[in-house]
Amino acid sequence: GRMALSLRGVRPVAQVPRRMFGSFVEHLGRCVYGGIYEPGDPAADEDGFRRDVLDLVKELGVTCVRYPGGNFVSGYNWEDGTGPRQDRPVRRDLAWHATETNQMGIDDFYRWSRKAGTEIMLAVNMGTRGMKSALEELEYVNGAPGTELADRRVANGIPDPMGVAMWCIGNEMDGPWQVGHMSPEEYAAAVDRTAHAMKLADPGLQLVACGSSSAHMPTFGRWERTVLGKAYEHVDFVSCHAYYYEHRSEGLQDFMASDEDMKTFITSVVEAADDARAANQGRRNIMLSFDEWGVWNSEEWNQQETEWKASSNGLHTQPWPEAPRQLEEVYTAADAVVEGGLMITLLKHSDRVRSASRAQLVNVIAPIMAEPGQPAWRQTIFYPFAIAAAHARGDVYLPQVEGDAPQVETKSYGSVDAVEAVVTWDPTGRGEWSQEGDPCAAACDGGPQVGSGSGLVLAVNRDVADGHRVTLDLRDLGGQDAGNQAALHVVATHLLHDDDPHAVNGPDRPG
Ligand code: AHR
Repeated sequence: GRMALSLRGVRPVAQVPRRMFGSFVEHLGRCVYGGIYEPGDPAADEDGFRRDVLDLVKELGVTCVRYPGGNFVSGYNWEDGTGPRQDRPVRRDLAWHATETNQMGIDDFYRWSRKAGTEIMLAVNMGTRGMKSALEELEYVNGAPGTELADRRVANGIPDPMGVAMWCIGNEMDGPWQVGHMSPEEYAAAVDRTAHAMKLADPGLQLVACGSSSAHMPTFGRWERTVLGKAYEHVDFVSCHAYYYEHRSEGLQDFMASDEDMKTFITSVVEAADDARAANQGRRNIMLSFDEWGVWNSEEWNQQETEWKASSNGLHTQPWPEAPRQLEEVYTAADAVVEGGLMITLLKHSDRVRSASRAQLVNVIAPIMAEPGQPAWRQTIFYPFAIAAAHARGDVYLPQVEGDAPQVETKSYGSVDAVEAVVTWDPTGRGEWSQEGDPCAAACDGGPQVGSGSGLVLAVNRDVADGHRVTLDLRDLGGQDAGNQAALHVVATHLLHDDDPHAVNGPDRPG
């Protein structure tokens, strides 16, 4: 079929948020140990960080990394990962049934982030701990020297405050699997108090309240309304998490349209956030931090968990493994198309989704894979993220469909457009990040400027049966009219395709 898209008369929805290209590093499996950190590996640098992994993180274009979990954080003592390595305690990790050596911690992650050029987004433990340890951690991380906790950081070799702006108040506290999980009312009270106190320490922090672990949780909606209604004054973001699974979808065609589910999720959370604003007679919008998203096909963890729950070999009879192979998903061409669609959907909603973290970064449901002693390699899903992160700058435009668009039929979402697309346009052409601030700045000022801008068109074909021809009318970009259309030209195109939707990359087929 043919699809005609146009930007004629279309205003931008928002500026591309730098934090849209965030990722996630959890103490889980071989993400940290054997992923970003592997002293003794030929690729390790003087801090024990794998140089080849760092290079691929930069190539991926990651801007911000959420740390240290995930489910892990709900049983974590942040102090355990600070100070001389030989003195750090070894502990059980209840979330992933592993032994945590604490050889990486906040200080080490700070050093790694400096090398990666990424912002840090920290999550605090609201499971076994809460407000007190969150405040102490905040002081250790961001405090000016002169207090006991800030001076401990200085003594550990980090003289300047780390300047971490974004803090997640817990992780997935609605999930029954979460250590210390809570009812909506319990979490609402806890996050309200904790966020209030953290803002007393630093009113400039950007605080993220846990939203639902997925749009399919029984408390979805009620959770957001209860939590945001109570904590509206003190929180800036609400988190969204969503994973998509081919084998749980109604066939490959429905899987390819997974971004439809994400759209509904975002719209529902925005409604709940706006209800909370109205209930508080507020003027400020709570933004969305989509801080776990991606494809996660394997059921391996569920099987491991079932086996371990059924066995009598618990805490006292067996050591738990260190950095076991967990969630080491190998991604297909179809997975890359789905992740491209999810990225397009996030960008299309960037008026409210002002932060996102693809989960995760290395080895664990990850775009980058690392084996001991071998060069790290790129999975299929590396590419849609890398292309968007490298080129999406300036303003986000939603192309309008002219006439009839080719449709595909899905069991889960009905009839949907075969092609999904988004356009970004940087009127300066300099490829720099817009200043954070009013996400509507571009939409509210004079619109596109005349000049030598540069843009990006991202599109996915969600139709498993057919290809489609797409035309795009971009004449209005850069203030152009039909007369100077020739000034727009294509600089580069990237096509990610395989005749076999289940084709994969590997160490020997780096893609
Ligand atoms: O990313 C893997 C896990 O998925 C995270 O630990 C948790 O937050 C989510 O359930």
